[in-house]
Amino acid sequence: MSEIVFLNGKWVGRDQASLSPDDRGFIFADGVYEVTKFYNGKAFRMADHLDRLHRSLNEIEIDFSEFDKLEDISLELLTRNNLIDAEAGVYWQITRGAHPRVHHFPGDIIPGFYAFAFPLPSAKDKLGKGIKVIVQEDIRWLRCDIKSVSLLPNTMLYNKAVESGAGESILIRDGKVTEATHSSVFAVKNGVLVTRPLSTLILPGITRKVVLEICEKYGISKEERLFSETELFEMDEIFICGTGSEITPVVQVNDKKISGGVPGPLTQKIQKIFFDLVQ
Ligand SMILES: Cc1ncc(COP(=O)(O)O)c(C=O)c1O
Repeated sequence: MSEIVFLNGKWVGRDQASLSPDDRGFIFADGVYEVTKFYNGKAFRMADHLDRLHRSLNEIEIDFSEFDKLEDISLELLTRNNLIDAEAGVYWQITRGAHPRVHHFPGDIIPGFYAFAFPLPSAKDKLGKGIKVIVQEDIRWLRCDIKSVSLLPNTMLYNKAVESGAGESILIRDGKVTEATHSSVFAVKNGVLVTRPLSTLILPGITRKVVLEICEKYGISKEERLFSETELFEMDEIFICGTGSEITPVVQVNDKKISGGVPGPLTQKIQKIFFDLVQ
Protein backbone atom coordinates (compact mmCIF):
# COMPACT_ATOMS: atom_id res chain seq x y z
CA MET A 1 0.00 0.00 0.00
CA SER A 2 1.29 3.41 -0.89
CA GLU A 3 2.20 5.91 1.73
CA ILE A 4 -0.63 8.31 2.60
CA VAL A 5 0.01 12.04 2.59
CA PHE A 6 -2.25 15.05 3.21
CA LEU A 7 -2.31 17.58 0.37
CA ASN A 8 -4.64 20.58 0.10
CA GLY A 9 -7.40 19.05 2.23
CA LYS A 10 -7.20 15.51 0.82
CA TRP A 11 -5.74 12.20 2.02
CA VAL A 12 -4.00 10.67 -0.98
CA GLY A 13 -1.37 8.07 -1.80
CA ARG A 14 1.97 9.79 -2.29
CA ASP A 15 2.12 8.56 -5.89
CA GLN A 16 -1.32 10.05 -6.58
CA ALA A 17 -0.59 13.46 -5.04
CA SER A 18 -0.50 16.26 -7.58
CA LEU A 19 0.04 19.98 -7.48
CA SER A 20 -0.55 22.93 -9.79
CA PRO A 21 2.63 23.88 -11.68
CA ASP A 22 1.67 27.48 -10.77
CA ASP A 23 2.03 26.79 -7.04
CA ARG A 24 4.31 29.55 -5.82
CA GLY A 25 6.13 27.02 -3.65
CA PHE A 26 7.26 25.37 -6.89
CA ILE A 27 7.94 28.60 -8.82
CA PHE A 28 9.45 30.86 -6.12
CA ALA A 29 10.02 28.62 -3.06
CA ASP A 30 7.35 30.93 -1.62
CA GLY A 31 6.49 29.01 1.52
CA VAL A 32 7.53 27.86 4.95
CA TYR A 33 7.71 24.52 6.76
CA GLU A 34 8.14 22.74 10.08
CA VAL A 35 9.33 19.30 11.12
CA THR A 36 8.09 17.94 14.44
CA LYS A 37 9.30 14.71 15.99
CA PHE A 38 6.84 12.27 17.56
CA TYR A 39 8.14 9.78 20.12
CA ASN A 40 5.64 6.87 20.09
CA GLY A 41 2.77 9.10 19.03
CA LYS A 42 3.64 11.93 21.40
CA ALA A 43 4.77 15.20 19.84
CA PHE A 44 7.84 16.86 21.30
CA ARG A 45 7.24 20.60 21.79
CA MET A 46 4.19 20.85 19.50
CA ALA A 47 3.28 24.30 20.89
CA ASP A 48 6.74 25.66 20.02
CA HIS A 49 6.51 24.32 16.46
CA LEU A 50 3.07 25.89 16.03
CA ASP A 51 4.36 29.22 17.39
CA ARG A 52 7.35 29.21 15.07
CA LEU A 53 5.17 28.32 12.08
CA HIS A 54 2.86 31.19 12.97
CA ARG A 55 5.81 33.55 13.15
CA SER A 56 7.32 32.38 9.83
CA LEU A 57 3.94 32.83 8.10
CA ASN A 58 3.51 36.30 9.58
CA GLU A 59 6.95 37.34 8.39
CA ILE A 60 6.14 36.42 4.78
CA GLU A 61 2.49 37.55 4.99
CA ILE A 62 0.74 34.26 4.29
CA ASP A 63 -2.69 34.20 5.82
CA PHE A 64 -3.20 30.65 7.15
CA SER A 65 -5.71 29.90 9.88
CA GLU A 66 -5.83 26.13 10.31
CA PHE A 67 -3.28 25.84 13.12
CA ASP A 68 -5.72 24.03 15.39
CA LYS A 69 -6.02 21.14 12.88
CA LEU A 70 -2.31 20.43 12.55
CA GLU A 71 -1.87 18.15 15.56
CA ASP A 72 -4.85 15.97 14.56
CA ILE A 73 -3.69 15.79 10.94
CA SER A 74 -0.23 14.76 12.17
CA LEU A 75 -1.59 12.00 14.41
CA GLU A 76 -3.80 10.75 11.59
CA LEU A 77 -0.76 10.66 9.28
CA LEU A 78 1.15 8.62 11.85
CA THR A 79 -1.76 6.23 12.28
CA ARG A 80 -2.43 5.80 8.56
CA ASN A 81 1.25 5.14 7.90
CA ASN A 82 1.81 2.76 10.85
CA LEU A 83 4.16 5.16 12.61
CA ILE A 84 2.15 5.85 15.73
CA ASP A 85 4.30 3.49 17.84
CA ALA A 86 7.60 4.60 16.33
CA GLU A 87 9.96 7.54 16.36
CA ALA A 88 8.67 9.57 13.45
CA GLY A 89 8.84 13.02 11.94
CA VAL A 90 5.92 14.98 10.55
CA TYR A 91 6.60 17.58 7.87
CA TRP A 92 4.18 20.50 7.33
CA GLN A 93 4.59 22.89 4.42
CA ILE A 94 2.48 25.93 3.66
CA THR A 95 2.97 27.74 0.38
CA ARG A 96 1.29 30.95 -0.76
CA GLY A 97 -0.77 28.92 -3.25
CA ALA A 98 -1.25 28.67 -7.01
CA HIS A 99 -1.42 31.76 -9.23
CA PRO A 100 -0.08 32.67 -12.70
CA ARG A 101 3.49 33.83 -12.19
CA VAL A 102 3.80 37.38 -10.86
CA HIS A 103 6.47 38.70 -8.50
CA HIS A 104 4.16 40.47 -6.02
CA PHE A 105 2.01 38.55 -3.51
CA PRO A 106 -1.37 38.06 -5.25
CA GLY A 107 -4.36 39.01 -3.09
CA ASP A 108 -6.76 36.37 -4.46
CA ILE A 109 -4.90 33.23 -3.47
CA ILE A 110 -5.54 30.24 -1.21
CA PRO A 111 -2.51 28.87 0.68
CA GLY A 112 -1.41 25.34 -0.16
CA PHE A 113 -0.86 22.84 2.65
CA TYR A 114 1.12 19.61 2.43
CA ALA A 115 1.95 17.20 5.25
CA PHE A 116 3.57 13.79 5.45
CA ALA A 117 5.00 11.49 8.10
CA PHE A 118 8.27 9.59 7.89
CA PRO A 119 10.33 7.29 10.13
CA LEU A 120 12.82 9.34 12.16
CA PRO A 121 14.67 6.99 14.49
CA SER A 122 17.49 8.42 16.61
CA ALA A 123 20.85 8.02 14.88
CA LYS A 124 22.27 5.96 17.77
CA ASP A 125 25.73 5.53 16.27
CA LYS A 126 26.23 9.28 15.69
CA LEU A 127 24.71 10.15 19.08
CA GLY A 128 27.13 7.76 20.78
CA LYS A 129 30.36 8.34 18.88
CA GLY A 130 29.87 11.87 17.63
CA ILE A 131 30.43 13.19 14.14
CA LYS A 132 32.96 15.09 12.07
CA VAL A 133 31.86 18.47 10.69
CA ILE A 134 33.40 20.79 8.15
CA VAL A 135 33.43 24.59 8.27
CA GLN A 136 32.03 26.61 5.38
CA GLU A 137 31.09 30.19 4.59
CA ASP A 138 27.41 30.88 5.37
CA ILE A 139 26.07 31.71 1.90
CA ARG A 140 22.40 31.87 2.96
CA TRP A 141 20.15 34.93 2.84
CA LEU A 142 19.77 37.48 5.66
CA ARG A 143 16.45 36.13 7.03
CA CYS A 144 17.50 32.73 8.35
CA ASP A 145 15.05 33.27 11.24
CA ILE A 146 12.23 32.40 8.80
CA LYS A 147 11.84 28.65 8.26
CA SER A 148 11.60 29.07 4.51
CA VAL A 149 11.42 26.17 2.04
CA SER A 150 14.05 28.03 0.02
CA LEU A 151 16.82 25.69 1.17
CA LEU A 152 19.14 25.50 -1.84
CA PRO A 153 22.12 27.06 0.02
CA ASN A 154 21.54 24.69 2.96
CA THR A 155 21.43 21.68 0.65
CA MET A 156 24.58 22.80 -1.21
CA LEU A 157 26.43 23.30 2.08
CA TYR A 158 25.20 19.99 3.49
CA ASN A 159 26.03 18.13 0.30
CA LYS A 160 29.59 19.39 0.56
CA ALA A 161 29.73 17.90 4.08
CA VAL A 162 28.47 14.55 2.80
CA GLU A 163 31.00 14.58 -0.05
CA SER A 164 33.73 15.23 2.55
CA GLY A 165 32.61 12.30 4.70
CA ALA A 166 31.28 14.68 7.37
CA GLY A 167 27.93 14.76 9.16
CA GLU A 168 27.24 18.52 9.01
CA SER A 169 28.67 21.87 7.98
CA ILE A 170 29.16 24.56 10.60
CA LEU A 171 28.63 27.94 8.97
CA ILE A 172 30.63 31.15 9.33
CA ARG A 173 29.42 34.67 8.56
CA ASP A 174 31.76 37.65 9.01
CA GLY A 175 34.23 35.40 10.82
CA LYS A 176 31.64 34.25 13.40
CA VAL A 177 29.79 30.93 13.78
CA THR A 178 26.10 31.17 12.89
CA GLU A 179 24.65 27.62 13.01
CA ALA A 180 24.75 24.45 10.88
CA THR A 181 22.78 23.63 7.71
CA HIS A 182 19.92 21.97 9.61
CA SER A 183 20.96 22.19 13.25
CA SER A 184 21.92 24.72 15.91
CA VAL A 185 25.49 24.83 17.25
CA PHE A 186 26.68 24.78 20.87
CA ALA A 187 30.24 24.70 22.22
CA VAL A 188 31.84 24.45 25.66
CA LYS A 189 34.80 26.51 26.84
CA ASN A 190 36.07 26.28 30.44
CA GLY A 191 32.80 24.74 31.63
CA VAL A 192 30.57 27.37 30.01
CA LEU A 193 28.14 26.41 27.25
CA VAL A 194 28.18 28.94 24.43
CA THR A 195 25.78 29.54 21.56
CA ARG A 196 25.08 32.43 19.22
CA PRO A 197 22.25 34.78 20.34
CA LEU A 198 19.03 34.76 18.31
CA SER A 199 18.90 37.23 15.41
CA THR A 200 17.75 37.25 11.80
CA LEU A 201 20.89 35.25 10.93
CA ILE A 202 19.89 31.97 12.59
CA LEU A 203 16.77 29.87 13.01
CA PRO A 204 15.24 30.07 16.50
CA GLY A 205 15.81 26.34 17.02
CA ILE A 206 13.38 24.59 19.34
CA THR A 207 16.01 22.09 20.48
CA ARG A 208 18.31 25.08 21.11
CA LYS A 209 15.60 26.51 23.38
CA VAL A 210 15.27 23.16 25.18
CA VAL A 211 19.05 23.01 25.75
CA LEU A 212 19.02 26.52 27.23
CA GLU A 213 16.12 25.50 29.51
CA ILE A 214 18.10 22.43 30.62
CA CYS A 215 21.00 24.74 31.52
CA GLU A 216 18.69 26.92 33.64
CA LYS A 217 17.17 23.94 35.41
CA TYR A 218 20.42 22.09 36.11
CA GLY A 219 22.60 25.10 36.91
CA ILE A 220 24.84 24.69 33.85
CA SER A 221 26.66 27.95 33.02
CA LYS A 222 25.68 29.28 29.63
CA GLU A 223 26.38 32.31 27.53
CA GLU A 224 24.62 33.50 24.38
CA ARG A 225 27.39 35.31 22.52
CA LEU A 226 29.14 35.49 19.17
CA PHE A 227 32.21 33.29 18.80
CA SER A 228 34.68 33.19 15.96
CA GLU A 229 35.82 30.47 13.60
CA THR A 230 39.21 30.56 15.34
CA GLU A 231 37.55 30.03 18.73
CA LEU A 232 35.52 27.14 17.32
CA PHE A 233 38.70 25.13 16.76
CA GLU A 234 39.82 25.82 20.34
CA MET A 235 36.58 24.74 22.03
CA ASP A 236 36.68 21.99 24.69
CA GLU A 237 33.46 20.43 23.38
CA ILE A 238 31.03 21.04 20.52
CA PHE A 239 27.59 19.64 19.74
CA ILE A 240 24.89 20.31 17.19
CA CYS A 241 21.21 19.97 17.99
CA GLY A 242 17.89 19.87 16.21
CA THR A 243 14.64 17.96 15.86
CA GLY A 244 16.38 15.31 13.74
CA SER A 245 19.93 15.55 15.09
CA GLU A 246 18.72 15.69 18.73
CA ILE A 247 21.97 16.25 20.69
CA THR A 248 24.80 15.08 18.41
CA PRO A 249 28.37 15.43 19.69
CA VAL A 250 30.94 16.91 17.31
CA VAL A 251 34.33 15.23 17.74
CA GLN A 252 36.18 16.65 14.75
CA VAL A 253 36.12 20.00 12.90
CA ASN A 254 37.86 19.76 9.53
CA ASP A 255 41.08 17.93 10.49
CA LYS A 256 41.11 19.02 14.14
CA LYS A 257 39.94 16.58 16.83
CA ILE A 258 37.72 18.13 19.51
CA SER A 259 37.71 16.85 23.12
CA GLY A 260 40.19 14.13 22.18
CA GLY A 261 37.91 12.80 19.45
CA VAL A 262 35.23 11.58 21.86
CA PRO A 263 31.99 13.23 23.09
CA GLY A 264 32.71 15.65 25.94
CA PRO A 265 31.31 15.24 29.49
CA LEU A 266 28.95 18.24 29.41
CA THR A 267 27.65 17.19 25.98
CA GLN A 268 26.93 13.72 27.37
CA LYS A 269 25.21 15.14 30.44
CA ILE A 270 22.92 17.37 28.34
CA GLN A 271 22.27 14.52 25.93
CA LYS A 272 21.15 12.27 28.79
CA ILE A 273 18.84 14.92 30.27
CA PHE A 274 17.41 15.57 26.79
CA PHE A 275 16.59 11.88 26.21
CA ASP A 276 15.02 11.57 29.67
CA LEU A 277 12.80 14.52 28.66
CA VAL A 278 11.64 13.17 25.31
CA GLN A 279 10.94 9.59 26.40
C1 LIG B 1 19.07 26.01 9.80
C2 LIG B 1 18.55 25.26 10.98
N1 LIG B 1 19.01 25.56 12.21
C3 LIG B 1 18.60 24.91 13.30
C4 LIG B 1 17.66 23.87 13.19
C5 LIG B 1 17.21 23.17 14.43
O1 LIG B 1 15.91 23.59 14.74
P1 LIG B 1 14.95 22.68 15.60
O2 LIG B 1 15.66 22.40 16.88
O3 LIG B 1 13.76 23.54 15.82
O4 LIG B 1 14.66 21.46 14.82
C6 LIG B 1 17.15 23.53 11.94
C7 LIG B 1 16.17 22.46 11.82
O5 LIG B 1 15.72 22.11 10.75
C8 LIG B 1 17.60 24.24 10.79
O6 LIG B 1 17.14 23.95 9.57
